[in-house]
Amino acid sequence: MASEKNNVPEHVTIIMDGNGRWARQRGQERLYGHKEGVESVRACTELAVEKGIKYLSVFAFSEENWDRPVAEIEGLMQLMLKAITMETPTFQKNGVRFRVIGDFSRLSEKLRKEIDDCMKLTCNNSNLQLIIFLSYSGKWDIVQAANKFMRENSEKEGAGQLQMTAEDLAANLSTAGIPDPDLLIRTSGELRISNYMLWQTAYTEYYFTDILWPDFRKTEFQQALDTYSKRERRFGKV
Ligand code: IPE
Ligand code: IPE
Ligand code: MG
Repeated sequence: MASEKNNVPEHVTIIMDGNGRWARQRGQERLYGHKEGVESVRACTELAVEKGIKYLSVFAFSEENWDRPVAEIEGLMQLMLKAITMETPTFQKNGVRFRVIGDFSRLSEKLRKEIDDCMKLTCNNSNLQLIIFLSYSGKWDIVQAANKFMRENSEKEGAGQLQMTAEDLAANLSTAGIPDPDLLIRTSGELRISNYMLWQTAYTEYYFTDILWPDFRKTEFQQALDTYSKRERRFGKV
C-alpha cells in the first residue's frame, strides 16, 4: 500500500463516466461514446504499464446499468466482446493480466467464454493486472461475500456462536487478494460513488474531474497521478 507521499499508487481504479454526454455533444448515439471510451481504456492501460502501476481497475457496467434500454446494453456487451478479442495480443505483448469481476450469471455464454479464455491465457502475466468490473455493484459484492461465508461455515461445530470479522468478509469479496484501491478517479463531473467498491474504498483517495471519459487519455491520467503524489494519507493516524 502506498502510505507515503510521492509514491506511484499500487492500485488505481476508475469510474469511467460521461460516454453518453460526449456522444450527445457530437450529435451521435450513446454507443459512439462507448466506442471512443474503449480507446481511453487502452491509453490508460498503456500509461499504467509505463508507470509501474500494478493494478488498474475500471467500472465498465454496474448492476443498475441493466435497467438501461436493451439496445444500449446489447451494444455495450458486443463492444466488450470485440474489445477483449482485439486486445488479447496486446495484453500478451505487454505482460498484462486481464480479469473481470462481477455477477457473471447475467452475462451471455459467449461473452463469459471470451472472458474466461482471455483470463486463462493471460493469468501468468505480471506487469499489470487490468480488472474490469462488469455487472458489478458494491452492495452485491458485500452480500455475496456474507452469503459465501455463511455457506462455508454454517455446518461447522459451534456455528451458532460464529462471528464474522472484517478479515473474513474481505476474504470472501470478489476482490479478495487484490489490494484496496489507493486512488479512485471519476470522470464527467459526477461527485458520487454509484454503488462501486463500497468496502474496498474505505481509505482510498478520490479524484474527480469534469473531463468526459472518451477525452480522458494519458495526459489527463498523468495529471491525476501527479495530484495523488501530493496527497498525504494518514489512515486515521497523526
Ligand atoms: C459511462 O458513461 C459508461 C457506462 C455507465 C456504461 P455513461 O453511459 O454513463 O455516460 P453518461 O453519464 O450518460 O454521459
Ligand atoms: C457509474 O456510472 C457506473 C459505471 C461507470 C459503469 P453511471 O452513469 O451508471 O452512474 P450514475 O447513474 O450517474 O450514478
Ligand atoms: Mg453516466
